[in-house]
Amino acid sequence: MTLHKVWDPAVRLFHWSLVAGFAANAIITDPESKIHRWIGYTVLSLVLFRLVWGVVGSRFARFSSFPPDLKGAREQLQDILTGRRRVHLGHTPLGGLMIYNLLATILVICISGYLMTTDRFWGTEWTEELHAAAVTWAELSVIAHITAVILESRRTGVNLPRAMMTGVKSVPDEASFAP
Ligand code: HEM
Ligand code: HEM
Repeated sequence: MTLHKVWDPAVRLFHWSLVAGFAANAIITDPESKIHRWIGYTVLSLVLFRLVWGVVGSRFARFSSFPPDLKGAREQLQDILTGRRRVHLGHTPLGGLMIYNLLATILVICISGYLMTTDRFWGTEWTEELHAAAVTWAELSVIAHITAVILESRRTGVNLPRAMMTGVKSVPDEASFAP
């Protein structure tokens, strides 16, 4: 095994706080309560922070290290179908696409949630429908995200959830690296 430090503390703190905040609002809080709004604004702040950190953060946190990459995503799919064991040090191309999807969807959830509380949009159906639809889309995406993390961990032999906790990826010696 070789060890590679990939996720800085800010990325890890961001991730697990986002998980907690999202889960709290999607499952636990009463949507009509103040706490729902405050947790929602906390989640919004986390995502806004992540957008800044994606520009000024450490190497693997930067968006430039995982730009939307359809060619890379196709190659990763081929690796999955043929069982080829290539490891990406930062986010994988498919993982990167999922991250942009999740960040954008959570922004839509928070903005539509805020609009529902304003005088101008209070009681409008489209804001409520948009909020609910975006939450459903985010939930489906999270299920796909967690499934992909588990399957990719098995395929590559790298424990990805542990890396998101410790910041370090343990890569098996026999694995090769994707370009
Ligand atoms: C992670 C972020 C959030 C999640 C996961 C979330 C989730 C939800 C869910 C599941 C509902 C119920 C939807 C339904 O009717 O089926 C809801 C309703 C609502 N949310 Fe959020 N929400 C989030 C952020 C926010 C924010 C930032 C605000 C406002 C500042 C907000 C305000 C509201 C309001 C006003 C409702 C309607 C409550 C009612 O029924 O009167 N939400 N949200
Ligand atoms: C137990 C549940 C979860 C686990 C085990 C998990 C695990 C992970 C792992 C391992 C990564 C890094 C993937 C890679 O190596 O490229 C990641 C990234 C990410 N996950 Fe999750 N995740 C979970 C739930 C969630 C939820 C609920 C959300 C959002 C609502 C989420 C949003 C993200 C985002 C935005 C990133 C990118 C992190 C960054 O670069 O800042 N995850 N997750």
